[in-house]
This record gives sequence, structure tokens and C-alpha cells, in this order.
Amino acid sequence: MHNPHRIGTTELAVHPIGYGAMHLSIDRTRRPLAADSIRLIQHAVDELGVNFIDTADAYCIDDTETGHNERIIAEALRDAGRRQQVIVATKGGSIRPEGRWERNGRPEHLRTACERSLRALETEIIDLYQLHAPDPTVPVEESVGALRDLQREGKIKHIGVSNVGVPLLERAMRESEIATVQNQFSVINQRDEAEVLKFCEANNITYIPWNPVGGRGKAPQLAEISALLSEIALAHSTTPHVVAIAWLLQLSPAMLPIPGTTKIEHLRQNMEAATLKLTEEEMASFEC
Ligand SMILES: NC(=O)c1ccc[n+]([C@@H]2O[C@H](COP(=O)([O-])OP(=O)(O)OC[C@H]3O[C@@H](n4cnc5c(N)ncnc54)[C@H](OP(=O)(O)O)[C@@H]3O)[C@@H](O)[C@H]2O)c1
Repeated sequence: MHNPHRIGTTELAVHPIGYGAMHLSIDRTRRPLAADSIRLIQHAVDELGVNFIDTADAYCIDDTETGHNERIIAEALRDAGRRQQVIVATKGGSIRPEGRWERNGRPEHLRTACERSLRALETEIIDLYQLHAPDPTVPVEESVGALRDLQREGKIKHIGVSNVGVPLLERAMRESEIATVQNQFSVINQRDEAEVLKFCEANNITYIPWNPVGGRGKAPQLAEISALLSEIALAHSTTPHVVAIAWLLQLSPAMLPIPGTTKIEHLRQNMEAATLKLTEEEMASFEC
């Protein structure tokens, strides 16, 4: 059994492993059919205990279909009381003109984006709304201030930020309570650990690592990239991906990994990481 993860200092308690839904939408040739994506989400919730799903308005092919990922999640959760069981975290502040990834952190954009996400997610209030990435042309105070206003209006329950270092995070925290930070982090990319992760631990902020099993670029070669992951996986009769997720969970109580997959079998394996116990020696062997 596993203890639930409490998000920041909020009332939200979730399974210690969430699901990142991005790959159900962002690649035209590789994304599953909508019906298969819906089946995967329903299986995740009904059979595997997933109750935290990460999405974004920008998880789509381009800005002609902004909200694609959110609409799939809404459809998957519409019936059978599933919606009440699941915390859906979305993001605003990235845009996809002609498929490019660009940032727009202007308050008026964030307001429009949030209202569009409310419609796409078929909800009256968003559980967790994250600033996708700071916009270098807009002071972070203005972007987070816009989210704080939306929170006061009852459109957002809690606020998170993504792709930030400590100085920006501190500025954001002066504008609003910050429940979560979502940054790139994994056993094969530990750049964030010393600073941002430690800061989150000290300030009761949930740390959501994206690319927790290396991302689409590295996940297929994880065994070759890290002989250590392979060796430890063999010792526990599991896969390097499961070890990578278990390592995150054991590294810090602030951690809420959101591995992304388009396959039910991979999702099932990933959720098993919640019960995999690595030894102290194994944990220490990954120290950089
Ligand atoms: N805030 C941000 O800027 C940001 C950026 C990127 C991502 N994110 C969020 O973070 C989530 C996770 O990041 P990510 O999806 O890029 O990285 P990831 O979870 O590290 O990697 C996803 C890749 O790993 C593969 N995979 C997953 N589980 C596997 C397993 N058990 N065995 C073998 N392969 C496995 C998937 O392939 P299959 O589909 O074949 O399983 C997919 O290609 C995203 O879904 C998204 O919600 C946020």
C-alpha cells in the first residue's frame, strides 16, 4: 500500500503517481485515436487508481485545436462518477501558432485561456491551474497576479508554476500561494535537485517532475542510457522506467511524478512504482 500525496498545503490528496496526458495530443502521426485515448484514461481511473491527471490547453497539434487534450480528458471522465474521483491539473501561458511552442503570459491571455479551459474541461472550477512557463516579456508578478484574480473569482482552486528557478518562484510566491512547481527532472537529469526541489521541500510545495522517465526522446533507450537503472531493474524483476519512478518517489516526499504514456501496459507498470522499495544503497548509487 502507499500513502496518498497531499498537494502543497491544499486539501487535495492524490495517489503518489499521476498521469501526464500530453502524448495523447501533441503529435499528429503518433497520437492514439480519440476513442483509444478515452479508453486509456478510463482504465487508468477505474482499474489503476490514477486520480491526478496533468494536461494543458497547449497540448494539441497547433492553435486550430487548442484544448484538444483537455476535451479528451473531459469526455473520458464525463460519466460513471469518474470526474469526482480525479484532480485535473491544467496549464495556460503557452500557445501553438502553426505548431510552434511560444509563450504568452499576459494577464488578458491567461484570463481567456483559463475560461477556454473551463469550457474544454466541462467544469466550473479548475483544481490546479499552472503557469506553463514564464513569459520573458511579462513580469511574472503580472502573470501570477492574473491567476490570483481568477482564483478570487472562483475559477481556479489552486495555483502552480512550471519551468521556473528559485528566484522566479520566490517572486511568484509574493503574489499568491503556490501549490506546485512543475519542472524537468529525472534520475538521468538531476539538474534541478539541489536548488528547486530542496526549496519546494522547505516550503511545502509539491514538486511535479516532467520527463520523469526521460521523455519521448530518451524513454525508449533508458536501459542503454543507464546501466545502473537496468541492473537495479533486473534485481527487482521490473523495468528501468519503473525504477526511475520509484527513485523519484523515494528521493523526496514533495515528489508527484506524472509519467506520460499512450499504452495501458506502460501505465500499469508505471503505477507499480508506488510499491517498489529501493534499498538505501540503490538510492545512494544514483547520487551525482
Ligand atoms: N510543464 C512542461 O513544460 C511540460 C513539458 C513536458 C511534459 N510535461 C508533462 O509531463 C508529462 C510527462 O512528461 P513526458 O511525457 O514528456 O515524459 P516521460 O513521462 O518521461 O516520457 C514519456 C515517454 O515515455 C514512454 N514511457 C512511459 N512509460 C513507459 C514504460 N513503462 N516503459 C517504456 N516506455 C514508457 C512513453 O512512450 P509510450 O507512449 O510508448 O508508453 C513516452 O514516449 C507529460 O505528459 C506532460 O503532462 C510538462
